[in-house]
Amino acid sequence: MKKITWRSPSNIALVKYWGKRGVQIPQNPSLSFTLETSFSEMEVNFEVQEGFRLDFYFEGEANEKFKNKIALFLKSIEADYPFLKNIYLQIYSKNSFPHSAGIASSASSMSALALCICSIAEELGEKVAEETFFRKASFLARLASGSACRSVYGGAVAWGSTPALASSSDEYAIPLPFEMHPFFQAYRDTILIVSASEKSVSSRAGHALMNNHPFAKVRYEQANANLVRLVEILKNGDVESFISIVENEALTLHGLMMNSEPSFILMHPNTLKIIALIRDFRKQTAIPVCFTLDAGPNIHLLYPEKEIVAVQKWISEELVNFCENGYCIHDRIGTGAMLIR
Ligand code: PMV
Repeated sequence: MKKITWRSPSNIALVKYWGKRGVQIPQNPSLSFTLETSFSEMEVNFEVQEGFRLDFYFEGEANEKFKNKIALFLKSIEADYPFLKNIYLQIYSKNSFPHSAGIASSASSMSALALCICSIAEELGEKVAEETFFRKASFLARLASGSACRSVYGGAVAWGSTPALASSSDEYAIPLPFEMHPFFQAYRDTILIVSASEKSVSSRAGHALMNNHPFAKVRYEQANANLVRLVEILKNGDVESFISIVENEALTLHGLMMNSEPSFILMHPNTLKIIALIRDFRKQTAIPVCFTLDAGPNIHLLYPEKEIVAVQKWISEELVNFCENGYCIHDRIGTGAMLIR
């Protein structure tokens, strides 16, 4: 059998994608930082044969649930990738972070899968330019799991049509087409694991909450405006405005969930304690730390690389006391997905 392996990172959204229509088309554009140390690695062994067959192993063990999900996804893209009708795929997937860390792995794993499918297409004769290859992978990753489309690129990545970025699209992500201000180029993200339990609302159900949400229209307008402003900020290095938008986006996401029907409160008491400590620390030290949140209780603490010593000392002395088993993951902005072979 032939073998392809891709390592693809997770990403953290600064402007959030929350609400979709049609086939994974976002209701508003989003922008994320790609991470480095939180990644999935997917090895796909493949052999052309009569009919389709899939074996799937997660962290070394056969996993029927993931296998069925992936089989369904591959079936759905068969018209565009006809080689999938006659192939045996043996997939080994693993994450750099523990499965039970409460970190969503769909962005990293589904982007890795999309990249593997595009590499197999290439091995079977579909040669394309590098730019086209990544665009196709991002398109495919979006179909598998929306935010995964941002993970194929490194640095800051935007997904969704916006007047701020001429080449942006609802169908795939693009790396920001300019150099970020040096202040943001070496940014850190320490993920504070407040709870490692599974999320109480799936992202599919979460997005669906926006369909009848009374604030949907203003939310989409706000996200569009925040994205336009954030693009400018990433160029000009205005860190105060960066903090204000990033925290506003995180709290808006949770606010939308709290006043959805049904309603979800995904923050834990310790999430709020840490948020208060972050705002205090920022005031006391003038170090520009800020937070963002996924659709869960864990905190992503963002700070510039040059403040690493003071910030990580504070994390280990104070913040970890509010984390489950004192657990946190020191991550940073990364360079994007990598072909391992
Ligand atoms: O890609 P999904 O369907 O798992 O949705 C991701 C939703 C958020 O993580 C809350 C926001 C985002 O843009 O990543």
